[in-house]
Parts: sequence; C-alpha cells; structure tokens
Amino acid sequence: MVQHEQPNPSDSFTFNRTGHSTRNRAVLAAMTNKQSHSDGTISDKEMRWLIRRAKGCFGIITTAAAHVSKDGQGWEGELGLFDDMHIDKLTILTDSIHTYGSLIFAQLFHGGMRAPQYLTGREPLSASKVRCDESESGFSRSASGKEIKKIIRDFTSAAIRCVKSGFDGIELHGAHGYLISQFLGTKTNKRTDEWGSDLKGRSRFLIEIFRSIKENVPDSFIIGTRISPEIENLGINLNDSINLAGFLRDEGVDFLHLSCWDVFANSKEHQDDPRRLTEWFTQSFDDLPPIISTGSVWSKSDAQELINQGADLIGVARAGIPYPDWAKNLSQENYNPPRAPFTVKQLRKADLSDSFINYMRKWKGFVQN
Ligand SMILES: Cc1cc2nc3c(=O)[nH]c(=O)nc-3n(C[C@H](O)[C@H](O)[C@H](O)COP(=O)(O)O)c2cc1C
Repeated sequence: MVQHEQPNPSDSFTFNRTGHSTRNRAVLAAMTNKQSHSDGTISDKEMRWLIRRAKGCFGIITTAAAHVSKDGQGWEGELGLFDDMHIDKLTILTDSIHTYGSLIFAQLFHGGMRAPQYLTGREPLSASKVRCDESESGFSRSASGKEIKKIIRDFTSAAIRCVKSGFDGIELHGAHGYLISQFLGTKTNKRTDEWGSDLKGRSRFLIEIFRSIKENVPDSFIIGTRISPEIENLGINLNDSINLAGFLRDEGVDFLHLSCWDVFANSKEHQDDPRRLTEWFTQSFDDLPPIISTGSVWSKSDAQELINQGADLIGVARAGIPYPDWAKNLSQENYNPPRAPFTVKQLRKADLSDSFINYMRKWKGFVQN
C-alpha cells in the first residue's frame, strides 16, 4: 500500500486532471441556509455569506444543496438550478468568489422521497414505494424508467447551467438520504430492474448521472460526488460504500467527498476496529480520487489529523459559520477557536443574516439564547 503524503492543511492542492489549484486544503462544505428566493434564485444575503468565506481564504466554497428538478425541492428557501433563470445571479456569485481566489462548486441534488408534497404539489418519488412522511398517502412512489432518465437529464442540464454560471465544478449530493442515496440503499431501493438489486444496479443512477454530465460539460469542469459511508435506516453499509468508491474511481470522478459527521469516530458497524471512517477508504485503495472528508473538524490539529488519515482536503461546515476566516487562520500552528454557543452579535458580525441565525437555532446549542 502506497502511503499518502502528509501535507499541511495550509498547503495548496491541485486537481491533476483539470489543473485547478486551491490555495489551501480547506473546503467550505455545503450548508443549506434557506435564504434563496421562492423561485430558487440566490439572494444577496446568501451571496454575502458565501463571499465572506472566500474572503476568509477557504480554498473551495460549496453552495448549499440546489435542486435540479423543480419537484425535487426539499425545503423552503432552497437554492435552485432547475431553470436558466438561475444563471445570472449565480454568475455574479462565482465572479465575486473568484475575485477572492477560491474555487466554487455547486452541490446538485434531488430530494426524492424527502421532497414534501405540500411544497412540490406532487407525490414524492423514490427508487421504490416505501414509507414516506412527506407524502399525503404515507408512501413514496417508485420512479418509472422514463422518470429516472428525465431526472438524469435534469442533473445534466443543471450542471450545464453551472458551467454557464462560471462554477469550477459540481458536487453530486449522494449523501444524507436524498434521492441518489435512496437509490444506493437496500432499504429504499427494492427494485429488481437495472436500477436496483445488487450494488452495481443501485449505483447505476449515480453513475449514469456522472456519465451524462461528463459527456456534456467541458473537460476542464470538475465533477465530484459526496456520499455517506453508512446510513443504517437506508441500508447503506460501509462495505458497499467502499466498493462504490472503487466504481467511482473507475469512472474517473474528480473527487470523492465522505460525509462522516465525525471524522474521529469509528465505523458504527465495526465499533471494535480502530480505523476511522476515512481510513477505511484511504487504506482500501492506493489510487482513489482526491478525498474530501468532513465532520467535526474544528482546530488546526483536527485538520492535520484528518490529512494524516489520508484525506486530501478538509471539509468544514459548522466551524466556518462563526469563523469566516477559519481557513486563513490555518496558518497559525495552534489555531483552535472557541466552540458553540455563539451570540447573535457574533454571528451577525460573521455576515449571517437574521434568518440564517434563526435557522441555526435548530442546531442544538449553536446559538446562545
Ligand atoms: C446549517 C447546515 C446546513 C447543512 N446543509 C447541507 C447541505 O445542503 N448539503 C450537505 O451535503 N450537507 C449539509 N450539511 C452538512 C455539512 O456539510 C457537514 O457535513 C456537517 O455539518 C458536518 O460537518 P461539521 O462538523 O464541520 O459541521 C449542513 C450542515 C449544517 C450545519
């Protein structure tokens, strides 16, 4: 097994295939902030929040999850990429982010059975008919082959809009229980056709989205995927996720983003094994695409430890909220900023709008009352 090099989190990183370089290893992970307009166009408040983190030197900025089909919307205030009308404002965003020297990726997703009927007016679809709280009938609908192909086209059109808007790349959101992961999971995908059954079949939806986008965007465009290594209630297990990483490597994805929630935790399925979640992947292959890993990184030493686990890039979500200069501060050897709770004044100073601050109240202990 070839050992991964152990660079410093503040070192630059280059995506070899496209030649894009980042000024450091810090990636602002996708964070929904519910500030987009009701037609999915990005608001000035949402732009301000992202641009401030580019100014704070994050190597890569990721947008909030953006729905690729109008009826794939998961919640109010969600960013949209389902229509050309979204392009103009997003172009302003990418220009500003580039001015500050960051790369910018859009996160593309479809809610599937987590796209509520009250919001979309349609019965939520998924890989299979399964229990679904977001549906008036109490169940999701199994997508037909024709609908699956339409959603693949929607992902492709959204990616083309990202190219037109000046994004450097996209992240396909295959994590956290939305449509792509509903196809991956054995409990949500009970199909016996080519879109289901074994892991190859259950991965086909994700792989076909990737292939279709790849055929339709310039060679210089970065295409990566985010996955959850384990989601018990969907039937996504670690072994399948490791094998999926191998499929994605074979397809030529430009990065694989592991959403671990806690990168210092062991596998839930293999509690006695000392390997951290990221290490299960980085120690299973010596030719993986660049790995972003995210979850509970707060200090410079956390970031270094994650690199030592084999990650190439450090995903950061919650620490980037009160600390827009988190990435800039990685140059300090002992950087370890205070943790939650944060005052409203602190969060306003970090360019969060009041509506985003209110949303953050749902994250237990984050905002001081
Ligand atoms: C406010 C908030 C919104 C989030 N929205 C998204 C999202 O849109 N897409 C996504 O893949 N993950 C989302 N996440 C998960 C984060 O990207 C990240 O994986 C998680 O918060 C763990 O990283 P952290 O410990 O650095 O916060 C969100 C997290 C937070 C705190």
